[in-house]
Amino acid sequence: MTTVLALETSCDESAAAIVRRSGRGMEVLAHGIASQVEEHAQWGGVVPEIASRRHVEALPHLVEAALSEADVAFDQLDAVAATVAPGLVGALMVGSVTARSLAVLHQRPFLAIHHLEAHLASVQLAPDPPNPPYLVLLVSGGHTELIRVDADGGMLRLGRSHDDAAGEAFDKVARLLGLTYPGGPAIQALAETGDPRRFALPKGRVKRPEGGFYPYDFSFSGLKTAMLRQVEGLRDLADPLPLADLAASFEQVVADVLVDRSLRCCRELGLPRLVMVGGVAANRRLRSLMELRGGKDGVDVCCAPLAYCTDNAAMVGAAALQRLSLAPQKSSISLGVSARWPLDQASALQAEAPPF
Ligand code: KG4
Ligand code: ZN
Repeated sequence: MTTVLALETSCDESAAAIVRRSGRGMEVLAHGIASQVEEHAQWGGVVPEIASRRHVEALPHLVEAALSEADVAFDQLDAVAATVAPGLVGALMVGSVTARSLAVLHQRPFLAIHHLEAHLASVQLAPDPPNPPYLVLLVSGGHTELIRVDADGGMLRLGRSHDDAAGEAFDKVARLLGLTYPGGPAIQALAETGDPRRFALPKGRVKRPEGGFYPYDFSFSGLKTAMLRQVEGLRDLADPLPLADLAASFEQVVADVLVDRSLRCCRELGLPRLVMVGGVAANRRLRSLMELRGGKDGVDVCCAPLAYCTDNAAMVGAAALQRLSLAPQKSSISLGVSARWPLDQASALQAEAPPF
């Protein structure tokens, strides 16, 4: 049995969780999130300085609540884990310093986790988690990537967005339609009653310099501009904007593009399973379309549980448990934080000589 306390503070959610691996797989004993979304919403996006201050206020209570809900004491923990990269530096620092202080104080190992590694691990919290090899569609506010995960845990990025991430496109289009931040849930709610085929929108293919297109890459900036043109054209008609149809058409084209390219990649590489993680993976239209089309293509689709798609600490705990199962690992107590760090260098976070 292995038990970890995990913290997440890379952006605007403060979170703490206790996750345990026993004979039955991974189990979330407790997890709490203090969202700052409402406070940032009035500024139309995340204000880093406010985020850091709110993490400082929220984290001690979240840690205390998680330990008490799980009925776990510090001496029962096998590690204290925290996200250290990538993200907002001030925000990351709060989680990292808290985790390192608790680790030193209670003589537990400290484990530094990469934020994308945590999103990838979130699918292991599903009731019937898939085994690699599989293709992961990681769709969040900062990333849109297709990553092959091999049976030995090795990873290879096969596709990416060349401009905005899918979540970023949701947030920007929501703002254009006068909706609140974060845009994904707001667009999803509005789109429910809309006609998803009313507006024809571009699917954003990325040209190769030598001709043709990158088959597994994405571009959402043209779609954002097309939405702006639609809205401008409709405003000239002086009628109320058909907001539900605009939201549904946008949501549909994003889902179509993500599903088309992910399943094409699975087919062409002979990968039998597709895993979907990250904030945008919470989108209902995307989840049902991926499951439907995956079924037709003979690809087994497994989405991260809804509660663990958007940023949370349980996924950080899941990543920590995966690391601990490979070998008894720990990170240097003098490791700092980094705004950017590539996923394929995530194991450097456990190196004896810290990379930052
Ligand atoms: O994974 P996440 O919480 O944070 C990052 O690591 O970026 O993802 C946040 C993103 C935001 O852009 C938000 O608008 C989007 O995920 N999102 C959604 C939904 N819920 C959150 N997008 C579409 N549909 C949703 N239901
Ligand atoms: Zn995230």
